[in-house]
Amino acid sequence: MKLAHDKQDIAADIAVVAENTADAAAREALLDRAMGTGRTRKSSEMLRRGRRPSEGLAFVARDPTGALVGTVRLWDVVLSEGSAAALLLGPLAVEPSLKGAGVGSALMQHAIAEAGRLGHRAILLVGDEPYYQRFGFSSEKTGELAMPGPYERHRFLAVELVEGALDGATGTLTAAGRKSRSDKPEAA
Ligand SMILES: CC(C)(COP(=O)(O)OP(=O)(O)OC[C@H]1O[C@@H](n2cnc3c(N)ncnc32)[C@H](O)[C@@H]1OP(=O)(O)O)[C@@H](O)C(=O)NCCC(=O)NCCS
Repeated sequence: MKLAHDKQDIAADIAVVAENTADAAAREALLDRAMGTGRTRKSSEMLRRGRRPSEGLAFVARDPTGALVGTVRLWDVVLSEGSAAALLLGPLAVEPSLKGAGVGSALMQHAIAEAGRLGHRAILLVGDEPYYQRFGFSSEKTGELAMPGPYERHRFLAVELVEGALDGATGTLTAAGRKSRSDKPEAA
């Protein structure tokens, strides 16, 4: 089909690169388009607000013109006071017209690989398991963990970057990222 063919052509030319400060407005506009403005009421947002993403772990997808067509960021958290560090992933979003072309997967694979390369041990998120399981996420190790606000437990997922990193993990996630100057989550 012509549309699918075009999408694949575009996806092949997408570059996943580090976000920079000039991307903030385009990123927020994309998030509003992809997720709606209610996105800022999510529990994950409580762990992001007033913080900067984990060092080196904010990425955008750009089309060949340089336009921002995807975003993903990861945030430093601890699993309970004084305990092991981990990352919280999100939001992940792709330009609606490019859905299904592999941009989300490219962002996820890049983000997970970079997190591992930087020595992080586990990534958590709240999202649809049918999507995130392809990247290794499941609710298997989050049973004794909790988000700091309302969320759907079956959507609370994790992947270990180091085998056993979440064995015995218990507690409520707490923000541990670098503080941002503004009240809003900002660029890396
Ligand atoms: C979810 C999202 C990031 C996926 O990005 P994408 O570039 O379209 O994803 P990909 O092209 O890499 O993967 C497409 C595949 O994922 C599947 N998929 C997409 N969203 C899904 C979901 N919520 N649940 C299950 N499967 C999903 C598609 O059906 C497709 O399956 P296929 O490979 O078997 O055909 C994108 O659709 C988006 O921005 N959605 C709105 C924001 C959002 O909901 N983000 C959080 C997701 S929980």
